[in-house]
Amino acid sequence: MLHRSWTCKYKRNHKILLVAIILFPLLVYVCLLWYMMHRLLLPSGPSHISLPSPYSSGTGNNSIYEEGHSHIQPNHHDEMCRERRNLVFLKGMKCATNTLTGMFSRFAFKRNLSVALPKGNLIYHNWPYPMTWRDVRPTGRGEYNMLLHHAIYTPSVMHALMPADTVYVSIVRQPFSHLQSVFRYFKVAEIAGIFGPEEKQLVEYFSDAERYERAYTSPNSTKRWCIPNGFSVTRNLMSHCHGIPLGFPAGTRDVSHDAAAIDAFIRQLGRSFELVMIVEHLYESVILLRRLMCWEFKDIVFVTSNVTPSLNKEHSAKGYPRHIIEFHKRWSHVDYLLYDYFNTTLWNHISRHGSEFHREVKAFKTVQNRIEKYCLTVYDHSSSEKFPDHTAASSKWNRKFNISANDCWALGPDPYKLMVKMKQQSDLLDKPFLQEDAKMADSREYKGLC
Ligand SMILES: *[C@@H]1O[C@H](CO)[C@@H](O)[C@H](O)[C@H]1NC(C)=O
Ligand SMILES: *[C@@H]1O[C@H](CO)[C@@H](O)[C@H](O)[C@H]1NC(C)=O
Ligand SMILES: *[C@@H]1O[C@H](CO)[C@@H](O)[C@H](O)[C@H]1NC(C)=O
Ligand SMILES: *[C@@H]1O[C@H](CO)[C@@H](O)[C@H](O)[C@H]1NC(C)=O
Ligand SMILES: *[C@@H]1O[C@H](CO)[C@@H](O)[C@H](O)[C@H]1NC(C)=O
Repeated sequence: MLHRSWTCKYKRNHKILLVAIILFPLLVYVCLLWYMMHRLLLPSGPSHISLPSPYSSGTGNNSIYEEGHSHIQPNHHDEMCRERRNLVFLKGMKCATNTLTGMFSRFAFKRNLSVALPKGNLIYHNWPYPMTWRDVRPTGRGEYNMLLHHAIYTPSVMHALMPADTVYVSIVRQPFSHLQSVFRYFKVAEIAGIFGPEEKQLVEYFSDAERYERAYTSPNSTKRWCIPNGFSVTRNLMSHCHGIPLGFPAGTRDVSHDAAAIDAFIRQLGRSFELVMIVEHLYESVILLRRLMCWEFKDIVFVTSNVTPSLNKEHSAKGYPRHIIEFHKRWSHVDYLLYDYFNTTLWNHISRHGSEFHREVKAFKTVQNRIEKYCLTVYDHSSSEKFPDHTAASSKWNRKFNISANDCWALGPDPYKLMVKMKQQSDLLDKPFLQEDAKMADSREYKGLC
């Protein structure tokens, strides 16, 4: 018995030994291959390259990198929670998005996160067409943490590009207020051939919307900037940006007359986006964002005043005839549905946060207003001038923190400044990838830098 069990054991050990002898070289080979691939694939990152600091000031310490930034952030509202860093911010058009992109870019830049950047000198990820895998710079960092620049919500591409735990957020604005802003920004009246005071222009446009739309979107109008032929900026623009199929480009699916489909798309967005902010309730929105991401007041401060002056004014349909507003409600009805749905959602969220929430909003407003004043003073001077830091007092929801003049320059007034900086870094760090990428043919035509 004893003998047999011993031989058995011996035979078994023998087998294990044999398997090990065969497997070991295989394992070594696989490891070697893996190591070599990584050496080849990942640029070794020339160690002598010092990253450009965001704004060259003659003297002084202008680094906005946060050194030894703890990954665990105490959330003064809750228990300790983990700062979330993977984010897609759907940057639409004229929805305070420059303000928020400044805020997110500063967050990413300070932590040296990997931001998905538009190709070459472009500023859009193929907006207003759906994003494709070709519309982002390749990166040697292994993954992207944030996607912040103009893009249409394209889940198939974005989910493949971003880590699994990415948080999706976006923002919408009261549609008539949005229209006024878009109308001005894209010079719709002038291009459609309408002149005179602004309120009159809008009224004239909607007195014969079909005709003026044709004129504005016609291949004949050469003054449009970044807007392709046949693309409407006055009709359901926010819904288009959120990926609801509305027939652009021509020949694609259009659900604008299918109430059930619109409803289904909006509800699906409600599940895909953890937060859809509302311009009219921006302070409440960013506090929800802070709580969702486990960020601090320092991370959510923004500067609006000279980026979106209209934000501070009450959006107003005053001075517009009733029938024009009613017409716009029908013309752009998907946007009204989208907006109402997410405004309701926002306030439902807020009601679940309890009364403490409103006290936090109030505390943040105080901090925010002082920082905004400080930054506006900074912008009145040259970027090389030295300023003492602004210190924000602590409260129940935040630790005491400093904002420097460089922080202000990172937040604004030019929303593309940090993107340019990040592209300069990418040009150096991602060189082999960019070279590979440039070999792939891309026959698309770009309008301007878009
Ligand atoms: C710049 O400031 C940071 C933090 O404020 C500090 O850690 C760093 O050493 C400073 N760098 C220089 C070059 O003074
Ligand atoms: C930022 O990250 C890149 C890629 O991981 C790295 O090469 C670079 O040294 C980092 N820069 C700083 C200032 O930490
Ligand atoms: C564009 O211009 C051509 C030539 O001037 C004209 O025939 C055509 O009707 C114009 N199209 C539109 C939509 O205005
Ligand atoms: C959003 O919804 C809230 C709560 O129903 C309401 O009080 C508020 O007026 C709405 N905001 C806008 C801009 O419609
Ligand atoms: C914060 O700013 C104040 C005022 O400029 C300054 O005295 C203090 O040293 C700063 N603190 C830090 C940590 O940089």
